[in-house]
Amino acid sequence: MSKPIVDLVAGARPNFMKLAPVERALRKAGAVTTRIVHTGQHYDPGMNDVFFEELGIPAPDVHLEVGSGAHGSQTARILERYEAHLIAARPAAAVVFGDVNSTVACALAAVKLGVPVAHVEAGLRSFDRTMPEEINRLLTDAIADLLLVSEPSGVSNLRREGVPEEKIHLVGNVMVDTLMGEVERARALPIVAEMGLEPQGYGLVTMHRPSNVDDPAVLGRMLSLLVDLGRRLPLVFPVHPRTRAAAGRASLVNLLTDGPGLICSPPLPYRQNLALMASASVVLTDSGGMQEETTVLRVPCLTMRENTERPITVEKGTSRLVGNDPDTIRAAFDEVMAGRWPAGESIPLWDGKAGERVAAAIGEWLS
Ligand code: UD1
Repeated sequence: MSKPIVDLVAGARPNFMKLAPVERALRKAGAVTTRIVHTGQHYDPGMNDVFFEELGIPAPDVHLEVGSGAHGSQTARILERYEAHLIAARPAAAVVFGDVNSTVACALAAVKLGVPVAHVEAGLRSFDRTMPEEINRLLTDAIADLLLVSEPSGVSNLRREGVPEEKIHLVGNVMVDTLMGEVERARALPIVAEMGLEPQGYGLVTMHRPSNVDDPAVLGRMLSLLVDLGRRLPLVFPVHPRTRAAAGRASLVNLLTDGPGLICSPPLPYRQNLALMASASVVLTDSGGMQEETTVLRVPCLTMRENTERPITVEKGTSRLVGNDPDTIRAAFDEVMAGRWPAGESIPLWDGKAGERVAAAIGEWLS
């Protein structure tokens, strides 16, 4: 008998480091045939091809090529094209990752056709419905059949929402599998020295959330703050395309190139970003993934958001919510510089084996 086919669906950069360990573990377990579906939500080579190459993800079997667009039209395009694929080549199940538009669109297309859906990184809640990702998380979890959770808060959130216990599995954080597999190779890269920096002698910044970049006044304030902090500690800033576009619209591009202590670059490949993160003395970010990665690496993280769907990084890790008020960010930065910052502790099930637990849960579910 031929093995059941399972679609692994990804579309945007933060999906790829989650898909990689799950794909590998499913392939190793050998009970299913995996089929990689790329929606094309992210299409710049620097936002995807490099991740597939570095993380050893097989080339996508299916590419939906949806590209950018407003939320409604992008989501609709993914829904339509994934549905057509499902009708033409129906899998036994679909696995979706994280909280991007591709996650919710593909989950919806699948369940409507009776294809069961597993959600990796289920249950996370920021309780902030102005975030597009929060809507994607709520909707995906409401319709998914197997909810694979990375931290205990996710389990309590799902229980509170009335999700039956048998659907919920605390499996740990698959992204940590990727980090642990790559960190030694990353540390061996010469990127820190090539940038003229010393280990622990610089900070790393990423910023792309609508709440920080879409309003020109907020973006201007944030970039001025970074230029200013860069005078005290060199800051490396790989600029997300969304942020670069917003800076262009707001005529703020000069702030992305002029600051002597602010070293701006295009988005970086996974391993280079990991190398910079691992040796940084501080990370300033609005990325969900980097909040988790800095906790594992024990690097102080100023999370430039008002809330987080990953509370364990604040409760047990090295992250603190600093929002986007310059005074608050500056005060936290001072604390890090003065050496007053929690070292954090290790998080249960963030151990490099989450992909195997996901594969086991999927195997059991399908049998
Ligand atoms: C998406 C995710 C976000 C994730 C982020 C990581 C949603 C709702 N958001 O946000 O959760 O943290 O990815 O990167 O799914 N663009 C390019 N090239 C690309 C991709 C995007 O130039 O390859 C530009 C386009 O101008 C596009 C804009 O970035 O309109 C936004 O891209 P989009 O995929 O809609 O959302 P992100 O902000 O990247």
